Amino acid sequence: MRTLTTRRWLAVALPLAIVAVLAVLAVLATVAAAAAMDSAEATLHSQDAKVSGSVHFTQEAAGVHVVADVSGVKPGQHGFHIHEKGDCTAPDYKSAGGHFNPAAAPHACDPTSPRHAGDFGNITVGADGKGHLDMTTTSLSFAGPNSVVGKAVILHEGEDDCKTQPTGNAGGRLACGVVEQQPMMHHH
Ligand code: CU
Ligand code: ZN
Repeated sequence: MRTLTTRRWLAVALPLAIVAVLAVLAVLATVAAAAAMDSAEATLHSQDAKVSGSVHFTQEAAGVHVVADVSGVKPGQHGFHIHEKGDCTAPDYKSAGGHFNPAAAPHACDPTSPRHAGDFGNITVGADGKGHLDMTTTSLSFAGPNSVVGKAVILHEGEDDCKTQPTGNAGGRLACGVVEQQPMMHHH
C-alpha cells in the first residue's frame, strides 16, 4: 500500500519536476543569448605608441550606443569610422578594408542619411590630446547585415570632410581596433 502510493506520487511529481527544470534552463539560455548580443568593445592600437583608445558598443532601445575615448592624438578633427573587415594586421591598417557599407550608400557623416553604416563623422581631439565621442545610431546592430561585431574601428590622421567619396578624405589610418563581444559574455 505504502509502496503503491509512493509510486503514484512519483509518477506525477517526477515529470512535473523535469518540466519545471527544463523551463528554468530554457529561460536562462534565452537570457544568456540576449546578454551575449548586447555589448561589444574595440581597443584601438597605433604604430604611434602614444596613441590609444577604446570604443564601447551597447544595444539600447533607441539603437546602438557608441562611446569612444582616445588619447595621445594630435588636437583637431579626426575621421572616425567602422571599416568592413576586422583585420588590423597591416601596419597602415589598410587590411581593415573600406568603410562598412552594407546598404551601398554614399559616404557622409552622422546624422546625414543615407550614409555608410560605419560613418560616425569626426571625433574632436582637444589640446590635451584627448577625444570623446558619445552617440546613438540605428545604422548598426549586433546581428544581421549591419552587425558591428567582427568589424574594425579606424581613427584617421585627418578630418573627414563628410563629402569626398568614398572616404571623406580623412587621410591615413592612425589607429585600428577590432570590435569584439565582451569576454565576460562568452560563458553560458
Ligand atoms: Cu575610416
Ligand atoms: Zn564612409
